[in-house]
Amino acid sequence: MLFKSKLPEVGTTIFTIMSRRAVEENALNIGQGFPDYPIDPRLSNCLIEVIGQGHNQYAPMEGVIDLREQIAHKLFTCYGQKFDPQDEITVTCGATEALYDAIQAVVGVGDEAIIFDPAYDAYEPAIRLSGARCIRIALQPPAFRFDWDQVRRALTDRTRLIIINSPQNPSCTAASNDDLQALADCIRDRPITVLSDEVYEHVLFDGRRHASVLAHPELRARSYAVFSFGKTLHATGWRVGYCVAPATLMRELRKVHQFNTFSIAAPLQHAIARYLASFPDAWQGLSAFFEAKRDLLANLLRGSGLEPVPAAGSYFQLVDYSALSALNDMAFSDRLIREAKVAVIPLSPFYAQPPAMSLVRLCLAKRDATLTNAAERLRAFAEAI
Ligand SMILES: Cc1ncc(COP(=O)(O)O)c(C=O)c1O
Repeated sequence: MLFKSKLPEVGTTIFTIMSRRAVEENALNIGQGFPDYPIDPRLSNCLIEVIGQGHNQYAPMEGVIDLREQIAHKLFTCYGQKFDPQDEITVTCGATEALYDAIQAVVGVGDEAIIFDPAYDAYEPAIRLSGARCIRIALQPPAFRFDWDQVRRALTDRTRLIIINSPQNPSCTAASNDDLQALADCIRDRPITVLSDEVYEHVLFDGRRHASVLAHPELRARSYAVFSFGKTLHATGWRVGYCVAPATLMRELRKVHQFNTFSIAAPLQHAIARYLASFPDAWQGLSAFFEAKRDLLANLLRGSGLEPVPAAGSYFQLVDYSALSALNDMAFSDRLIREAKVAVIPLSPFYAQPPAMSLVRLCLAKRDATLTNAAERLRAFAEAI
């Protein structure tokens, strides 16, 4: 049978490849972005309670109303803005589903969507499945700053969507309010929607504050903002996220969501709603929590030849290995797995056309003992070469 792939060049993600290699080589995996520590036991208790109380049937398509109200409350606390839980908030299967739904809702054949490299890997396949073209603008290391003139030059009559991600995975940089203003200036008077991936909204370092499109009136009016309880509650396996957008945009997203996942696991939604109602500031300490881990790892690595690059946010840390090796990042990462017995994530797979760089990504969402163990292995490796 003749079968034509719709995504011929999409293979296994770099996360799967490195995690598989980590198992093969019996290496410590501090590459992939998931915690190796337990969730808050009070959250586990909420889940047990709600299952016992019978919250086990289909949830409403838009999400359990108690949860949407808690989300609206949380958004007000964070961004000082009111959102209507009925029309402006939808609970999704992780941020991943929200991203997919928003992309399908906005772009189709003949349209163009702009993303910024190094880009999280879910954006381009979803754009291509919609039939649209993905235009990739490369942010240059080591600063990974937006060049808004370059963005302006990339805009065409077919541009319908710009996806931003702040704090950004994997560059660990964060957009400023000036960046948001520049974005608004670029797209004013054009039929362009913004998709803002803000899953690391609570992980900013050194006193920085998250610049959300939701707090920027002009952008808020034309944006889908996407969030993840997986990140915020250290529960990536629960696959609960949400999207916030003006009612007109949300109506279109729900048309996709309705026939994609329809609704999200009811007990998980009830459990999160109950948890947020009982412990409304449970997520408030996240920046400090990850900043301590960043400092622990950075202090252990500094001076080893694997130099931590100052990170503004996200739960990752980039390390520059140029003092140790001239290998490309794929080859160097493989060497780390084989010789240091530590799995990390190279940066080049996040680019369409990778610039010259010697950077790998480590995940901070690990127990202190795991980070210390990884840093000791990395130091020993660096000393040996
Ligand atoms: C930038 C970014 N967006 C979205 C996601 C997906 O989030 P979720 O696990 O809630 O689907 C991730 C997960 O690593 C991410 O790093």
